[in-house]
Amino acid sequence: MAGRLIVISNRIPMEKTVSGGLVVALHDALGCAGGIWIGAHPETGVADEAVEELGSSPYRRLAFRLTEDEQANYYLGYANSVLWPLCHRRGDLVEMRSEYEAAYRAVNARVARIVARIAEPDDLIWVHDYHFLPLATELRRLGVSNRIGFFLHIPFPALGDLSVLSQPERFADDLAHYNLIGLQTRGDVARCLEMYRADPRAEFMPDGSIKFRDRVTAIRSFPIGIDTAGFAADASQETVNPFGREEPGRFIIGVDRLDYSKGLPNRFRGFARYLETRPDGARPCLVQIAPPTRQQVRAYQDITRELEEIAGHVNGAFAELNWTPVRYIHRAVPRVELARLYRKASACLVTSFADGMNLVAKEFVAAQDPGNPGVLLLSRFAGAAEDMTEALQINPYDIEDIAAAIGTALEMPLAERLRRHEACLDVVRKTDVAKWSTDFLRVLMTCGASANFRDFE
Ligand code: ADP
Ligand code: G6P
Repeated sequence: MAGRLIVISNRIPMEKTVSGGLVVALHDALGCAGGIWIGAHPETGVADEAVEELGSSPYRRLAFRLTEDEQANYYLGYANSVLWPLCHRRGDLVEMRSEYEAAYRAVNARVARIVARIAEPDDLIWVHDYHFLPLATELRRLGVSNRIGFFLHIPFPALGDLSVLSQPERFADDLAHYNLIGLQTRGDVARCLEMYRADPRAEFMPDGSIKFRDRVTAIRSFPIGIDTAGFAADASQETVNPFGREEPGRFIIGVDRLDYSKGLPNRFRGFARYLETRPDGARPCLVQIAPPTRQQVRAYQDITRELEEIAGHVNGAFAELNWTPVRYIHRAVPRVELARLYRKASACLVTSFADGMNLVAKEFVAAQDPGNPGVLLLSRFAGAAEDMTEALQINPYDIEDIAAAIGTALEMPLAERLRRHEACLDVVRKTDVAKWSTDFLRVLMTCGASANFRDFE
């Protein structure tokens, strides 16, 4: 690669313990490739074009500040109260306010000015996630003709759901300013193509790219992954014991940001239903680690309260003096402890109603003891389910199905566990994070000619 790699995402890592698929994956990817990572500082400030250097090894991190209004209207508002629910099929949670979209456009325009100042002609620019859909539009407006790629970490919305937006046609237009649109799954690509098929401004090229006005954009899936070998090594560190002296015996693990898209209430209900029907003497625990996220948004406050209530009910109904069925931890844990927890668990429950990929599913598989692996219960609505067909796939809307799958997992014979684990591990290895980023960047470097982006607007 001749130039440098410049990555832009709203969230950048500040501490050692990070949660959220985007930060975890990019941290691993940039750790290998090096480059510059530009993102929002967690503390607010003034709306200028200054950036603070946060650290320079093994990649540079530059942070801009959002104002308090921008934090409320761009991040909590347009990104997380409009685009997030829209893409996760929760139109009922979308909150439309004109100041949200204005702030979203303003932040994208300002970040574009920052990037335009930093970028040199040969640099590759890689933009991440729904916070920055219009960033390429703004960069092209400033005359930036570099190759610019975009990766959407969350599900691509269904065509009909886009009508929630005040100007749905801008979604297709903004994305068409990129040279490459990367999506998690083949299903996401199909939905993206459906959007362009329905748009009279788009034309299809023989190689599957779309031509929109005079610009050509490639659309491909790049399933995101983890640092498989590194995670497996962490999971084998026997000196780390996350439970101390409070080992719970057999347990099922869940690890999620406390987000309504993760189906946590149904997970707890499914576990409770399993407890009603379990074989005599079985006393497994559900260890749920769910750090709070986006707590200023009403829908997140509601899910937090709901889950606490359900956890209380389940423990109230089933606990014994020496057995707490649900252990619910409301904070982030260091990655090496997480890896150890996965390895000690008999099963992992992923119950997302919609999920771009779900890295937890891949982490659990990578962490297992290959001679005595646990069982992955995986929602068929998580992106990971497209390739991990040998996981025990579940319907997260169906409590009985979750309960039955927990029973199947806890009683599964070793031979079947081995067969399913090997198949899942093969997928995790073949789609690891290094492949994800090198594949994306290779396609970005070769797709189309950037010339058709010059002199635009
Ligand atoms: P999302 O991107 O929606 O949060 P993913 O499952 O793709 O969902 O990614 C979540 C990432 O955040 C995983 O790498 C997971 O290990 C990490 N994570 C989630 N919860 C915690 C936690 N409590 N402590 C540490 N890491 C966490
Ligand atoms: C998902 C999104 C990321 C986001 C992360 C954590 O992984 O795809 O863009 O960073 O959730 O959410 P937060 O709002 O805390 O950044």
